[in-house]
Amino acid sequence: MCGIVGYVGQKQSLPIAVEALRRMEYRGYDSAGVAVVGENGIASAKRAGKLANLEDKIAEIGEGTLAGTTVIGHTRWATHGRPTDENAHPHVSFDGKVAIVHNGIIENFAVLREELERDGIELKSETDSETAAHLLAKAYNDGDTAGDFRASALNVLNRLEGAFTLLFVHANHPDQIIAARRSTPLMVGVGEGEMFLGSDVAAFIEHTKQAVELGHDSVVVINKDGYEILNFDGSGAEGKPFTIDWDLEAAEKGGYDSFMMKEIFEQPAAVRDTLAGHWADGRVTLDENSLTVDQLKSFNQVFVVACGSAYHSGLAAKYAIEHWVRIPVQIEVASEFRYRDPVLDERTLVLAISQSGETADTLEAVRHAKTQGAKVLAVCNTNGSQIPRESDAVLYTHAGPEIGVASTKAFLAQVAANYIVGLALAQAKGTKYPDEIAEIWRELEAIPGKIEQALDSRDQVNEISETLGAIKTMLFLGRGVGFPIALEGALKLKELAYIHAEGFPAGELKHGPIALIEEDLPVVVIVPSPRGVSQLHSKIVSNIQEIRARGAKTFVIAEEGDTAVEPYANWLVRIPQTPTIMQPLLATVPLQFLAADIARENGNEDIDKPRNLAKSVTVE
Ligand code: M6R
Repeated sequence: MCGIVGYVGQKQSLPIAVEALRRMEYRGYDSAGVAVVGENGIASAKRAGKLANLEDKIAEIGEGTLAGTTVIGHTRWATHGRPTDENAHPHVSFDGKVAIVHNGIIENFAVLREELERDGIELKSETDSETAAHLLAKAYNDGDTAGDFRASALNVLNRLEGAFTLLFVHANHPDQIIAARRSTPLMVGVGEGEMFLGSDVAAFIEHTKQAVELGHDSVVVINKDGYEILNFDGSGAEGKPFTIDWDLEAAEKGGYDSFMMKEIFEQPAAVRDTLAGHWADGRVTLDENSLTVDQLKSFNQVFVVACGSAYHSGLAAKYAIEHWVRIPVQIEVASEFRYRDPVLDERTLVLAISQSGETADTLEAVRHAKTQGAKVLAVCNTNGSQIPRESDAVLYTHAGPEIGVASTKAFLAQVAANYIVGLALAQAKGTKYPDEIAEIWRELEAIPGKIEQALDSRDQVNEISETLGAIKTMLFLGRGVGFPIALEGALKLKELAYIHAEGFPAGELKHGPIALIEEDLPVVVIVPSPRGVSQLHSKIVSNIQEIRARGAKTFVIAEEGDTAVEPYANWLVRIPQTPTIMQPLLATVPLQFLAADIARENGNEDIDKPRNLAKSVTVE
């Protein structure tokens, strides 16, 4: 959703805020803005579009107009109101004394807006957020809380409904920021003589590694010397201090032209690190404090809930878990889950998969599952985020920070983590013999090296993409576990290149989609391994022939040594031999390259920030 930053200290705060916003821009880039509290009160600058536009604005008005040692800043992913200068944050109150930044949704904003308008306050934006600035100014100017910044802030916070992170500054209290979180994220960074706030720790990682995680409904008051945590009723509360284990380099591009490209090349490490520590003494292990063996044994069904790429990783898990554990696995797009009234009970394992751990749809699905008595295991990449906090147990993926909005390394790490869960279930329930589990684990451990080989397709895919010409639409076909790969390939192309793309089970083609095939239409086909007992290989070769006969051009991904596909491929990209169930971890790689290359061919240079998207979607 939106990115939020704050700083109180002894240095000029503007450059610190701009740098922090640069690291938060992945959360939204519809607009950016800052408000500095200086000797002359509040000065703000904001502009629609990416951070570069705000920097231009600052250059126009001069940095000197934004002098001060306290700042709040925001990068926006628009919900209420279009991405315009007026709707950009910070919002300043009618008397010019209060500035606020907000992430989330104030659900009762219409009522609050009407109240403010009745009082003769003219709102300048279409946002829900602006109401908070005026309410705070009103509370500070009159009534019981007059002149008391903290009491006024608490008064306003208790009137707001919905999920939000809010930062408040007041011109009469230039050394203080009051911030609050309800469901949406906020981290505190503790420096020496300076304090930081950020939607995630990347906002201040350059300055301090000491951070504090706040509880679900928390208010924090910071000044340069420290912080105080409160509940919404003003009583004292505790945070959880921790040391950040990412370094700045991990959050930067490391020589690649985009975060996404860097993250694609980090995939061997992402999978290796995710697998690390989960095999000991010939057994698969989950983390300490995870589900017990007895709990794992007790489950008679699994529900997977997730969105986007995380959903595709879950679909791959369905094939693996049903095959290994012999219990039904249902997979549901998280936004549909609770509205469908799924049949859950205490013998149901709900696997909630999320890179960010913040996705509102997945979080609500988790909450619903828990009310129905199911046990929830989160697969998550972000320590301390909301989904693992509300789940019964968590298995962290170790992909490191993923900044590119399109998921790459987090997706592969999710597939690996889901397979760990599948093997732990098979082991607990005894549906696979120990030597079979050991064999699957050996195959998994070989995957990072094979991803390295799949990365060698970089130049070949780049050359192919240059020959594709103008593309109107592109189809992706797979069978079995190749189907989620097809969906993921199509999603990457839509996100990055803004081209219509669809993934289908190849067998479904003749039930309708084959009507889309026309001369020269590019069709990606993911071919299962010809080795083993599966008949899918010969079936998909027939599917390739069907589409070729109708003039399509085929981009075929097949394993080394599969000669049967050669006559039917216009372009043939090889991946290392692996059991078909492991193919999502390899065949996805050339499709990530393909989407990035076609995006650039189509003029989208900024593949890290595709239009209209945000890295974490914290509204339903
Ligand atoms: O943070 P999450 O894994 O919960 O995010 C889920 C989706 O929003 C995410 O995978 C999205 O589809 C990506 N942009 C895909 O590249």
